Amino acid sequence: MDLQQAAARAEALRREIEGHNHAYYVLDAPTVPDAEYDKLFRELQTLEAEYPELRTADSPTQRVGGKPLPQFAPVRHVVPMLSIRTETDTEPTGARAFDARVRRELGLVETEAAVEYAAELKFDGLAINLRYEDGVLVQAATRGDGETGEDVTQNIRTVRRIPLRLIGAPPPVLEVRGEVFISRPDFERYNDKQRALDRPTLVNPRNGAAGSIRQLDPAMAAERPLSFYAYGLGETRGWELPQTHGGVLDALAVFGLPVCEHRAVVQGAEGLIAFHARMREMRDALPFDIDGVVYKVNSQALQQRLGFVTREPRWAVAHKYPAEEALTTVEAIELQVGRTGAITPVARLAPVFVGGVTVTNATLHNEGEARRKDVRIGDTVIVRRAGDVIPEVVSVLMERRPAGANGEPLHPPFELPKTCPVCSSAVEKPEDEAIARCSGGLFCPAQRKQALLHFAGRRAMDIEGLGDKLVEQLVDHAIVRTPADLYKLGLVKMINLERMAEKSALNILAAVEKSKHTTLARFIFALGIRNVGEATAKDLARHFGKLDALLAADVDSLQQVPDVGPVVAASIMRFFAEPHNVEVIEQLRAAGVKWTEGESAAVVNSPIAGKTFVLTGALPTLTRDEAKDMIEALGGKVAGSVSKKTDYVVAGAEAGSKLDKAQALGVSILDETQFRELIKT
Ligand code: IVH
Repeated sequence: MDLQQAAARAEALRREIEGHNHAYYVLDAPTVPDAEYDKLFRELQTLEAEYPELRTADSPTQRVGGKPLPQFAPVRHVVPMLSIRTETDTEPTGARAFDARVRRELGLVETEAAVEYAAELKFDGLAINLRYEDGVLVQAATRGDGETGEDVTQNIRTVRRIPLRLIGAPPPVLEVRGEVFISRPDFERYNDKQRALDRPTLVNPRNGAAGSIRQLDPAMAAERPLSFYAYGLGETRGWELPQTHGGVLDALAVFGLPVCEHRAVVQGAEGLIAFHARMREMRDALPFDIDGVVYKVNSQALQQRLGFVTREPRWAVAHKYPAEEALTTVEAIELQVGRTGAITPVARLAPVFVGGVTVTNATLHNEGEARRKDVRIGDTVIVRRAGDVIPEVVSVLMERRPAGANGEPLHPPFELPKTCPVCSSAVEKPEDEAIARCSGGLFCPAQRKQALLHFAGRRAMDIEGLGDKLVEQLVDHAIVRTPADLYKLGLVKMINLERMAEKSALNILAAVEKSKHTTLARFIFALGIRNVGEATAKDLARHFGKLDALLAADVDSLQQVPDVGPVVAASIMRFFAEPHNVEVIEQLRAAGVKWTEGESAAVVNSPIAGKTFVLTGALPTLTRDEAKDMIEALGGKVAGSVSKKTDYVVAGAEAGSKLDKAQALGVSILDETQFRELIKT
């Protein structure tokens, strides 16, 4: 390939990739699979590496890659970036007042027609001016003081929704104004990730957007999930402007810029009021924060006539909504224990109306975050409730912190207790995790329902009929606290429960009785040790043979078991180190729960130890699970698909492709009778 060919190919690739970017980020309608996109992108990167002279400013490969700056360069705006008057009356009267003002300024009398307005959303982020020359993004600047902003081109390039090159026939100079923001799902996802790593979170989406754009290191900005919507113009040259504001936005969308779909051209005050109300209804469902709507006189000619007062246009206003953040005080900090034992600090608040509801508590997420924000009892805090997310404490107004006579704060910093507030078991927080957990497991009432359901599950103790409704009642009526209590249930206690017929009570009691005879593997699995699933429970049972051997194991001997690494070993050690757990095990033994110990003995004499089976089709009398249990009890393995390593395929009615494959590979095929014959010892 010569330079000319390479240049043509690079150009074609850039166009194609930006086309896919537009479809993906702006239209939200991807046109190619990710792998195909990646292939094109890599081809362009390779070409540009070979011919560095082909690397243009609008190349999609140049979105990230800038170096950190010592500071931002100032940018003088050709057309000043003005601000907009805010109408804080959140009622319809706010819209009427604006319309009345516009009519008065235009000298319209009552009998004259309604003024036409473009109504749009007021995005809550950071205003940006994008300068395109011959369709290529050449500069991006913040608003600054309106006259001079900061050059943030490098960071803006990382925003995938902002095209580096416009499509269609853009004018030679086009400055587009709009808002950079972070969507709520992106914000939550980003913060969840940060929290999991015990790293600082973003305070709210608006600060997050502003902070990201004003990062000196573009690599940091690139990590932040930024979005953009265009809402206006700066300088333009060589363009015959559309006659209305609505027309301008339509044209920007045609050039490939993201323009929000929630906008309308409406007539008069009543049209504005209807739009305000409609968007207020939608506010919680929108994927981004808005603090109001914006009304603009639609006709460009009328806008010209209206002009400006000081730094604000007479032809526009922001009509606000009630705030999603409010001030209140912290009355207490309590701890919530979740179903998996996760401990979450929660601030109890003096009731406050925010985001359309009365909020009385807000999450502090975890110890790290509670301490970083340094929330204490008596503090005045900003709470935030946006959309239908759980209310949270954003920050503390330190200057309002109550102090004692000596000037010291009245309350100490938040500290996680050493023991669970519900069951007093030890609280555990692994070094590299943000979440602290109660180690009480089966014993902790907060975790009890979940633990009981797991214990009774089909692959665990298999107590038929013990579902979530029943567990709920048994725990709420304090009839059952630990799994051992299940074995003390009597008919009288049972039929006193709501909607419990004698027959079903008897069935459940029979199922409980039957579950007393189980296998060691099922019993270990039923305990609900964190990180010990069914397969690990089986490995542990096979390796240790007896429960007491497992109880006595240390970290090293645990790691002798296949697939047990340091994390699983530590979970097991923690579980058995908790006296409550050992107590429950003793109670279960005392209640008569028995398991076949020393399975390894059976396995030693087994004809199928170490053999691999595949089950397919419906067997006449055995269920899949029963056949699987029989095979595994004798040291065999069950695999999902047939390969050369398969020893036997057990086939029932309507066996499909697995049977064909077994025949093709010459694997032994058994029906149920032959299978039963084989495992007879
Ligand atoms: S128009 C001359 N439209 O609100 C009019 N502004 O003070 C210039 N904003 O920080 C602004 N959504 O970034 C306009 N749909 C919208 C807007 C919007 C949000 C922001 C803008 C500026 C502030 C206005």
